[in-house]
Amino acid sequence: MTMEKKRKVGENMGRNSPGKNRRDVISLVYAYIIYLIMLIMLIVMVIAKWESRQMDKNVDLDEGEECSKVVRKMRFDCHPENGASELSCIARRCCWDPPIAQHNEAYEEIQVPYCFYPQNWHLYQYERMNETSGEFEGELKNIASSFYKKDIQVVGMRATKIDRNILRVRLENRDNPRYEPIWPIINTYRKKSSNNDSDYEFHVNKMKPGFQVRRKWKKNLIFDSLSAGGFIFSDQFLQISTLLPSHNIYGLGEHRNSLKLDTNWQIFTLFNKDQPPTEHANLYGSHPFYMIVEESGACHGVLFLNSNAMDIILQPTPGLTFRSIGGIFDIFFFLGPTPHDVLRQYSSIIGKPFMPPYWSLGFHLCRLGYGSLEKTRQVWNRTRAADIPFDTQWNDLDYMKNSNDFTYDDDKFKGLPEFVQEIHGVGMHYIPLIDAGISASEGNNTYPPYDEGVHQDIFIKDFYTNAPFIGKVWNRVSTVWPDFTHPNISQYWYIMMNNMHGQFEYDGVWIDMNEPSNFYNGHINGCIQNTFDNPPYQPNVVGNLLATKTLCMNAKHFGGLHYNVHNTYCMGEAVANYRAIIKIRRRRPFIVSRATWIGQGHYSAHWTGDVYSSWHDLRMSIPEILQFSLFQIPMVGADICGFDGNTTVELCNRWMQVGAFYPFSRNHNSDDTIEQDPVALGDLVIESSKKALMIKYRLLPYLYTLFFMAHSSGSPVLNPLFFLYWEDKNTLDIDRQFLWGKGLMIVPVLEQGKTEVKAYLPKGIWYNYYNNTGIISTGQWFVLEAPLDTIPLFIRDGIIIPAQAPSQTTAQSRKNKFELIITISHPSNENPSGSLFWDDGDSIDSINTHNYLYENFEVIDGNKLINTWPNYNPNIQEAVILGQIEVLGLARSVKNVTVDGQEIDTFTYNESTKYLLITNLHIDLSRKFQVMW
Ligand code: NOJ
Repeated sequence: MTMEKKRKVGENMGRNSPGKNRRDVISLVYAYIIYLIMLIMLIVMVIAKWESRQMDKNVDLDEGEECSKVVRKMRFDCHPENGASELSCIARRCCWDPPIAQHNEAYEEIQVPYCFYPQNWHLYQYERMNETSGEFEGELKNIASSFYKKDIQVVGMRATKIDRNILRVRLENRDNPRYEPIWPIINTYRKKSSNNDSDYEFHVNKMKPGFQVRRKWKKNLIFDSLSAGGFIFSDQFLQISTLLPSHNIYGLGEHRNSLKLDTNWQIFTLFNKDQPPTEHANLYGSHPFYMIVEESGACHGVLFLNSNAMDIILQPTPGLTFRSIGGIFDIFFFLGPTPHDVLRQYSSIIGKPFMPPYWSLGFHLCRLGYGSLEKTRQVWNRTRAADIPFDTQWNDLDYMKNSNDFTYDDDKFKGLPEFVQEIHGVGMHYIPLIDAGISASEGNNTYPPYDEGVHQDIFIKDFYTNAPFIGKVWNRVSTVWPDFTHPNISQYWYIMMNNMHGQFEYDGVWIDMNEPSNFYNGHINGCIQNTFDNPPYQPNVVGNLLATKTLCMNAKHFGGLHYNVHNTYCMGEAVANYRAIIKIRRRRPFIVSRATWIGQGHYSAHWTGDVYSSWHDLRMSIPEILQFSLFQIPMVGADICGFDGNTTVELCNRWMQVGAFYPFSRNHNSDDTIEQDPVALGDLVIESSKKALMIKYRLLPYLYTLFFMAHSSGSPVLNPLFFLYWEDKNTLDIDRQFLWGKGLMIVPVLEQGKTEVKAYLPKGIWYNYYNNTGIISTGQWFVLEAPLDTIPLFIRDGIIIPAQAPSQTTAQSRKNKFELIITISHPSNENPSGSLFWDDGDSIDSINTHNYLYENFEVIDGNKLINTWPNYNPNIQEAVILGQIEVLGLARSVKNVTVDGQEIDTFTYNESTKYLLITNLHIDLSRKFQVMW
């Protein structure tokens, strides 16, 4: 049959066959069904609109008009969950305006919410409001329901002045108290300002919920939730949005991103997670705090004190939405106006950083998988033999027996106690790892940490059985977790830590896996469906489930459900360790924690977790570390040379150089990678490490003094450039270089194959650390030479930096004479000045008992160095002798030098480099002195 014929037969069959009739009927039925569905949808839409009008009795909402009033950049997302449709959007009484086809490709267009709040959308109205002398107290009554169920019916709102530049605004459930984190212990002491004045104004609008905070100076708005709308306070969905005064926003960690945050529709999810640093992921710590440099040049900070899982959204309006799934709104405003003011004010509320022991500022060496004491000793020995400054040897979990806390492997690590003594014998220190979880599967009465925990009933409990919640971490079979909110936990933890100290005398503690991390998502079979593990709104957490690699959200702590307590777990562990170490060692605690929470810097240091041995990770380590200057955790570092993956000689060389200038300098790597202690990588890395660490050790008196200032006032140790030069807009985006205090600029090489590096030097004179010559900058970019063995360093003009000749350990370098490095001021600046804090470096109470020396130095008229306000306690044990002074940038030739009026001849002056060096001094820094040149 030809094709032609086939077709004809077919046509014929189609026209007359009973099959054709059947198909016609089916099509008709389909058409009818589709028609019916459309009709039902229409009716539902009409009902939804009608309902929304009914529910919103108090708002006369004409959607068309109200929606069109909202310009694109003022849109705040009314449907953050996936799957928004016109129907679901309108059911929330929001405006629906999906992107038009031709814009679909433009990324930004797609980000603009197409279900957004109309202008008059609100669920609350004021019932009562009282304003007295700048403070506010009122009640909001719920008038319409949110999509999220269980809306809080009566919201109490209170704005309290804490200080003239600190305002606290709380919105809570008036009828039933809700969960609030027990840490940080908020300093509620209200400072008595000399007058009733404040730097801000607080405004509400009778017609809608929300508030505005305005800086009195120039009347700048710093927080405006009235114009943003979308305020919701339901049981498991809390949302407040605000317009922001600029795009210059920093903080909202822990995250991997540029230091200045991107405001182009970015979500910052805060929920502590065992997650190697990755862009757009929630990481180990949660710090819902941000700082803004306003367009006016003033700065302010805001803290959302809320411990539940949350998303914080930045949008280009510029605007911000804070969206949490529990707790209350407890918002603090810090009016600055400088970045350092903001940080000091923040620290006055959340607590100031702990004072680190002096030895902890030295170099630390660690790796997972030394596998034996012999190997640990070999690395320890070869590092010392190479004359690399080195203070602390660490062991990862392989020192333990079966990866169980509070044990050590007396086979592979036989002799550990003696080794620790040996380490102490040469003035060095030892730190072991402690995991958060405790093994739950050892034989009965064979493992006291478990048995005693069960006896004291201090483990986190399963919601249904009330038995300890079981998961698994490194232990062979199963793991349970101490409940750090339990009243008996301090005693339990002390006993365990003390027993361990009885076995080997560790000096500090490394607390790991304390998000807390779990190898299961909840139990071995996950979590039974419940409203905490499956809340109506799920923040954008990695893994999509809150319980991903942690406990089920309904697990029970003494202080509340895991749902509420999760982000603060690490803080409880840090506090328990801090207390235990003080009791056990009677020395200053040094605790390094992976997970962190607001105010944790008061108890612990932090490292940035499992970074990769890559150039990208090296580069990102700078903003990762600098963000912790905002969070008041100044003792911070990244695993030098990278943790995962194999490092290379060049990468490790550059990483050792910048790592020397991390406040916490530790080289650490994983067990499936090549060895990366400096000696393992050969001569280049050895020489660079020595050179950079020798400089660190020399400048430790300066670094230690900066830590004292952080501890006593909350000022930062590491400064991103904008902390000091925020009025210079060029500095706002810089996060490849940083400063120690305001004096030392560090410009690391962060790219492969480079021996030059671009650096921004703010206006002033910057003295090259290596050759003492000054570069005059009007606020410019420079290309600097950076040979493989050198990290560029500059000292700012008008600074006096205390230093000390370096040695192989801090115990030795502390015995050397002090030095002062003075840089002559730019003519427009003040006299050169600096200060020194000095104590025995390890006592718990040297500061409280004033057993320290603190003094300021100043150069007057460019040629007279004096010290002022010596605060010297004769009980201080060590001699504090100044042996050398360097003056950089001294234009006037020096003919003679006197010390307290006596001429001396131990100096040289180099006219071409304008450099004066005075040596062989023996000046007692505990007394007043004067040096003239
Ligand atoms: C995870 C930590 O981040 C890492 O530093 C450590 O080596 C491993 N746990 C093993 O303890």
